[in-house]
Amino acid sequence: MFTDSHAHLEWESYEADFSEVLRRAKEAQVETILNIGTTLEHCKKGLEVAQSYPHIFASVGIHPHDANKVPTDYLDQLKALAQNPKVKAIGEIGLDYYYEHSPREIQLQRFEEQVRLAQKLNLPMSIHCRDAFQDCFNILNKVSYFQGVFHCFTGTQEEAKKVLELGFYISFSGIVTFKKSTALQEVVKYVPLEKMLIETDAPFLAPEPHRGKRNEPAFVVLTAQKIASLKKVSLEGVAHHTTQNAKCLFNLQEGQEWKEK
Ligand code: NI
Repeated sequence: MFTDSHAHLEWESYEADFSEVLRRAKEAQVETILNIGTTLEHCKKGLEVAQSYPHIFASVGIHPHDANKVPTDYLDQLKALAQNPKVKAIGEIGLDYYYEHSPREIQLQRFEEQVRLAQKLNLPMSIHCRDAFQDCFNILNKVSYFQGVFHCFTGTQEEAKKVLELGFYISFSGIVTFKKSTALQEVVKYVPLEKMLIETDAPFLAPEPHRGKRNEPAFVVLTAQKIASLKKVSLEGVAHHTTQNAKCLFNLQEGQEWKEK
């Protein structure tokens, strides 16, 4: 059984065939999905999806791209949403200096506020960090809260080492299947399975051989297969560890059967 620890299933691109997407996930043995919020509107939609299916859970948070577009009471709104038992994390939150869609100082402020919220609510974080590791580490150290995962990791081995030393998990996406991802593939070999999660980041970043198309949770198996071959372990081993890690980190329940809506 596999767990997709980071997907955005509330996106419009799933509206036409969502039941088919879920059916394919079930067939591929993707048992559990954590749906990740990016804006208040997306958080609300994602939570609706999670409430409709026993094996879909939700996180709420403001993505660094959208850090400059929040209302003044956004923390209260996130806090209210997080009271729902289906909400298992705060995210995705973090810093993105590659695209820099929001000014850095605003990103830093929003990230710190949301790390403090996660700490207050005792929820783990799904962290988005691109070209901003030192500032991410500075804020996490300043708040002194270290529960969570660095999602869709694309950093160096040295950055992975620091992430692990702080106690975080590292999640790999379909990017590890891309031919040119040789440096990242070395990082996969370095990160122990005991600290690893897998994800699709669907609808984005479809793994090979679907690169460039819409991604979906069933494809997380392709990333798991690549990781198994890189680490020279069984696919079952990757499935087992990454699922146990996700269940442990996000406190996901076990033993429920999939139910069609
Ligand atoms: Ni994402």
